[in-house]
Amino acid sequence: MARTVVFVNQKGGVGKTTTVINLGAYLALQGERTLLVDFDPQANLTSGVGGSAAKKGIYEVVSGQAELRDVLRPTKVEGLFLVPSSIDLSGATVELVDKEDRNGYLKRALAEVQGEYDYILIDCPPSLGVLTLNGLVAADEVIIPLQCEYFALEGLSLILQTVSLVQKSMNTRLKVAGIVFTMYDARTKLAQEVVQQVTEYFKDRVFRTIVPRNVRLSEAPSHGLPVCLYDPACIGAKSYEALALELRGRNGRIAASAAMGAATGAAGAPVGHAGAGRVEPSLFGESNSQE
Ligand SMILES: Nc1ncnc2c1ncn2[C@@H]1O[C@H](COP(=O)(O)OP(=O)(O)OP(=O)(O)O)[C@@H](O)[C@H]1O
Ligand SMILES: [Mg+2]
Repeated sequence: MARTVVFVNQKGGVGKTTTVINLGAYLALQGERTLLVDFDPQANLTSGVGGSAAKKGIYEVVSGQAELRDVLRPTKVEGLFLVPSSIDLSGATVELVDKEDRNGYLKRALAEVQGEYDYILIDCPPSLGVLTLNGLVAADEVIIPLQCEYFALEGLSLILQTVSLVQKSMNTRLKVAGIVFTMYDARTKLAQEVVQQVTEYFKDRVFRTIVPRNVRLSEAPSHGLPVCLYDPACIGAKSYEALALELRGRNGRIAASAAMGAATGAAGAPVGHAGAGRVEPSLFGESNSQE
């Protein structure tokens, strides 16, 4: 069965899609058969891996007009597959609102291919609405990409409260795999403080790999390529390669020591309060921890 991971943050532009594309590409390069599911009407994931939003996609699947297998397609990376999206998906948010079990559509759509992949990564829009709820219900784990800035912390409690609600009612197996820092700029004091504070509070639930701000990561999607095919030597590529190893290590699929050796550490003495004090640490499942 695939390990299904959803990437959630209601804040826009924090690196969700960039993380899904590049983490997925490196999982595939490391031998994990990986399916990327674009569940955002913006369809940035679709165009970012060179897919076309003009063809049938996930909207047609959730609205019963197509089978998942009919819309699923390969990408330029071997072992990496895409379920595309398009602006039509925004209609689904309206159509699903009145439906019974409106949050289970994506889970039902993915059920038929669960056995064919090692990883299924779901990209969500910047909201905690019906599309993101479908993602949370379909997934085993949540990863929260967090930009290293002050406002990022303010939204964190809300995400975790939403995850908690889903855990209690709709998806009891859901776990928070962790927080991934994105667009880290070591030159800014604030970025360092955000990393230190969040790491102090969430401890091993923070991925040790930190994704730096790197212009090559922002250029790659305009060529319809994951960074591994655009500039595999750049620091952004190396960070996502390390993140893929770390994620696999956290599942026990490869030795944790190998993953941790490759990951860049979120070094720094803990300071202060994380700004997410209402969050219960019990939200974080223990089963995937290596520490
Ligand atoms: N590490 C990085 N370094 C430099 N630019 C980045 C990095 N990560 C993402 N970007 C750029 O920042 C912008 C936002 O990233 P991305 O689209 O991945 O965020 P998102 O959270 O998916 O946004 P949305 O909420 O709109 O879906 C994009 O232009 C992307 O190319
Ligand atoms: Mg996005």
